[in-house]
Amino acid sequence: MQIHNNSEGFFKSITQVDDITLINVNEINKFNCILIEKSCEIPDKDYINFSSKFGPILSYQNKPTMSFFGQDVDEVNLHFDGISSDNPQKVPKWLIFRVRLAHNIKFGGNFEVVDTVNVINLLPEKLKDFLRSTKLEFYGYFIEQIQQQKYNEFSFSIDPIVQYNGIESLRLFLPSKNDNHKLDCKKIFKGTSEEETRNIFNELEKALRNPSVYYTLDLKENSLLILNNYFTFHGRKKFTKSVPRTFDRIQVLSHNISSLNKSDVII
Ligand SMILES: [Fe+2]
Repeated sequence: MQIHNNSEGFFKSITQVDDITLINVNEINKFNCILIEKSCEIPDKDYINFSSKFGPILSYQNKPTMSFFGQDVDEVNLHFDGISSDNPQKVPKWLIFRVRLAHNIKFGGNFEVVDTVNVINLLPEKLKDFLRSTKLEFYGYFIEQIQQQKYNEFSFSIDPIVQYNGIESLRLFLPSKNDNHKLDCKKIFKGTSEEETRNIFNELEKALRNPSVYYTLDLKENSLLILNNYFTFHGRKKFTKSVPRTFDRIQVLSHNISSLNKSDVII
């Protein structure tokens, strides 16, 4: 087993792992992005048991695991999971991805991760103050779930900077350059025009892709990627063509909560 920690204490990788059940979760959960590479398949039982050591697993239709087979080729821009949740306790703390079938990165689709704590230091003071005092409004977010919802109808708003245990973290869903209205629904910083909002997102996007806080990962088959969803964004670059790939996701909460309802759709 080989262990590598980056100097900022953000990223940890563990390679040549024989048995994930031997990994001590309390030693790795101080990091916000943890990559575990294993040489052979991770059985469901090990994947679920390992994930449950991070906290209570959030179920979808009574299943702990959500699978993605990925026909889409569009970019999914940087975001955190649970953005539309009306209850902060339902925002997952940990996202644990298992790569079952990896694709060749020459077709694009790179997995992106951003440190949403340190990125705040890269923003001008004026923009920080603006984000601390202005809501980001989402329109037409549930368009696929709630038939009567219109593209321009207000769905919910969020604080673009929040604190978890006294640590500030950036909370956004950056607009994507595609036509998927669920992912790329209209977003407006309250009290600004569409053009002003676009300019703010452009400034944020520049900071979020600064090499000091931005990582692209080439995820190998039989690896686990564990993200602290409170302190990271994740996203996916556009594919040049549709290529077979399969990964699973388990979301872990910080506390036990009762079951989800329809409005808790989490992407
Ligand atoms: Fe996501």
